Amino acid sequence: MIDESMKKQLIQRALEAREKAYVPYSKYPVGAALLCQSGKIYTGANIENAAFPVTVCAERVAIFKAVSEGDMELQAMAVVTKNGGTPCGSCRQVMAEFNPDLIVYVVDEKSDIKQETTLKEILPSYFGPASLVK
Ligand code: THU
Repeated sequence: MIDESMKKQLIQRALEAREKAYVPYSKYPVGAALLCQSGKIYTGANIENAAFPVTVCAERVAIFKAVSEGDMELQAMAVVTKNGGTPCGSCRQVMAEFNPDLIVYVVDEKSDIKQETTLKEILPSYFGPASLVK
């Protein structure tokens, strides 16, 4: 269960992370803040590249930071964009790998929560680790 003050903190951290986005091409900065069961918060921003497909989304930057530090129990994530855009399919797939019950707050740049959901809701019938079990 995420309390209101943690929710606000996540949104604030995602807003701040968004300021570090490297978006010379799209000019569409995204910020993410990920809470793990450990209580630690990992942030991310999208990082674009002149070779466009090499771009990495804010959500994946935050998740990869957490996992690469051994923090694999993802609990909740706030994602901030200008207009409350939702996580892309690739980011949803990465979320599914670690926690199908991940809580996702989709937030706009005015800090308004546009959608409060879970990964399972936004990626039903996902292909996950269990799909590979015989
Ligand atoms: N982007 C994200 O960071 N997260 C998403 O879930 C959707 C898209 C980024 C990628 C690119 O830098 C910009 O937004 C426009 O697609």
